Amino acid sequence: MRLHIVEDYQEMSKKAATIVASQVTLKPESVLGLATGSTPLGMYRNLVQMYRDDIIDLSEVVTFNLDEYLGLGPEHPQSYHHYMHKNFFNQVNIPEDNIHLPQGNSENIEQVCREYDRKIARYKGIDLQVLGIGVNGHIGFNEPDNKLKTATHQVRLTEDTIKANSRFFSSEEEVPRRAVSMGMGSIMQARMILLLASGKQKALAIKNSISGEITTEVPASLLQLHPEVITIVDREAAMYID
Ligand code: GLP
Repeated sequence: MRLHIVEDYQEMSKKAATIVASQVTLKPESVLGLATGSTPLGMYRNLVQMYRDDIIDLSEVVTFNLDEYLGLGPEHPQSYHHYMHKNFFNQVNIPEDNIHLPQGNSENIEQVCREYDRKIARYKGIDLQVLGIGVNGHIGFNEPDNKLKTATHQVRLTEDTIKANSRFFSSEEEVPRRAVSMGMGSIMQARMILLLASGKQKALAIKNSISGEITTEVPASLLQLHPEVITIVDREAAMYID
């Protein structure tokens, strides 16, 4: 694992965007695995600017998002569909047909999950997977448990996650209790992984993930087994790293 400790959120975002930009410059038809949450927002802002400045062209890029809340349609302001279009897709030139997110409001979630994995396989997997990390060490919505799923699946969110994500909703009650998440299989099979974290609330999860025991109780700790992980953390998120 390559670890970069940077000064702050701005520097983390800039470095992350540079890595994504390098990936799509080297391979214009890259398959990107994308994340939501507050962490990658700055990275998306930097990428939008690079696109406007003609530094990158995303016209051949294919994307797969990590997750979506169950029950929220694409127009719901808190859905990850909405987040991705607002913060990234609507401002760059990735063709709509190349954009994939699990559909959270389908009648048949099992079929959505199976189809999602089939599509990822059709594109021969993910070239670069961007990851944030939950305060409990989750990646995507792969929550701490005594076992983890490899395939895309339905999840019941933990209380920690519901609490942490309630800041995006008007109350904790409004946070969906379930979600669809890419499994550990597609994440671990990505050719390269970019793990981002900022702020002291992530410090323990980062320490446990990069230097703790490998355990399904800290899903991000499994990344220690991946050969190509770049971790970019700011000073606060790095405060417990020895
Ligand atoms: C969310 C998402 C994750 C994200 C994480 C951290 O629940 N499902 O993909 O990485 O939690 O979010 P944030 O960046 O807002 O702290």
